[in-house]
Amino acid sequence: MRFVTFLAGVLATTGVFAHPGHDIAQEIAERKAGLQMVSHRSLDHCTEVIKRSGLEARLVARRNELADRLIKKRGLVGKTHLFTAQKRADPINTSHKFSYNWNLDTPASVIFASNRSCILSPEVTEGPYYLTGEYIREDLVENQAGVDLYMDILVLDTKTCKPVPNVYVEIWQTNSTGVYGGVIAQGNGNFADKTNNKKSWLRGAQKTTEDGVVSFGTLFPGHYTGRTTHTHVMVHPNAVALANGTIKDTTASHVGQFFFDQDLITLVEKQSPYSTNKQALTTNAKDGILQQSSKSGDPFINYIYLNGKDVMGGLLGWISFGIDTSLTKTVRPAGQFTGH
Ligand SMILES: *[C@@H]1O[C@H](CO)[C@@H](O)[C@H](O)[C@H]1NC(C)=O
Ligand SMILES: *[C@@H]1O[C@H](CO)[C@@H](O)[C@H](O)[C@H]1NC(C)=O
Ligand SMILES: *[C@@H]1O[C@H](CO)[C@@H](O)[C@H](O)[C@H]1NC(C)=O
Ligand SMILES: *[C@@H]1O[C@H](CO)[C@@H](O)[C@H](O)[C@H]1NC(C)=O
Repeated sequence: MRFVTFLAGVLATTGVFAHPGHDIAQEIAERKAGLQMVSHRSLDHCTEVIKRSGLEARLVARRNELADRLIKKRGLVGKTHLFTAQKRADPINTSHKFSYNWNLDTPASVIFASNRSCILSPEVTEGPYYLTGEYIREDLVENQAGVDLYMDILVLDTKTCKPVPNVYVEIWQTNSTGVYGGVIAQGNGNFADKTNNKKSWLRGAQKTTEDGVVSFGTLFPGHYTGRTTHTHVMVHPNAVALANGTIKDTTASHVGQFFFDQDLITLVEKQSPYSTNKQALTTNAKDGILQQSSKSGDPFINYIYLNGKDVMGGLLGWISFGIDTSLTKTVRPAGQFTGH
């Protein structure tokens, strides 16, 4: 049984409501306040450190191996796909699509988008769909259908530019038709479906390696009314694994959201089952939270097509983000996952 309590009292009188209890204007204000506490707003100053420390070379090797493994698993042969990223100052108008045959000659800024990495604020709200007690696992898909998205995430300390090892990174997102598993709430799929609180799909946590990285096998998220397509992320510096393979922790050093190129969203949304989603679609250009986060960094997932040609072959995505390990906040979960 799952126990889910609803967040009350977060309703404000102004702002766009994605659904009851979720005030986007308030989320933006909280994020802005949080960013003011962070000493470094980008990872520019880390580019050289990452290179010199050998982390860059290890990340290149890791992502090459991941791409090879995922491509082989699909019975495909890797082919060079031309990298056409346009370097523009505004991340919303920059393609985050890459070739999968990157190598050590590729500049660090290209591989890790170091100049454009996002800094996750310690004070961003976790939103109304955060649950504690999720499984520690790499594969989050369970029975859900959609475009495969394999995510490789690097967590850096913004003060030292060193990777942050041994912390739990948790992600959660909607399924391909824009519903969060685990939470019964108006605006989240069928409110009358009381089985939704027993769902654990597309949520999970992983502990960072010595190099500060975690990976997840998930799906490209769907969209829901009032928000552009996004994935939530939270870093737990103090979480301890429970005997049943879950973590239950209500403190986090960082909470944030990852976004996707609009072109990519448009392509994915044409595929089934995404195309059956009847909820209104909000584009990146119209999403206030994204507009705000892209002012202080680049919160977009970089990606390749695993089959070199289209989204149906699945995606490998990666992103680096910086955290201030000295800051923590208490998070307000909508409930706790207690099993199926
Ligand atoms: C990243 O920053 C460095 C140093 O400020 C600069 O030389 C380089 O051109 C930048 N790269 C990109 C892709 O903006
Ligand atoms: C997404 O989840 C909701 C709630 O469980 C479910 O009704 C819907 O069928 C799911 N979408 C797909 C494509 O399975
Ligand atoms: C992206 O660029 C296009 C064409 O220059 C422009 O019309 C659009 O407003 C830009 N979008 C954003 C979000 O800056
Ligand atoms: C895992 O164990 C904790 C502590 O005993 C419990 O509260 C939680 O419900 C369990 N979760 C699952 C998924 O079994």
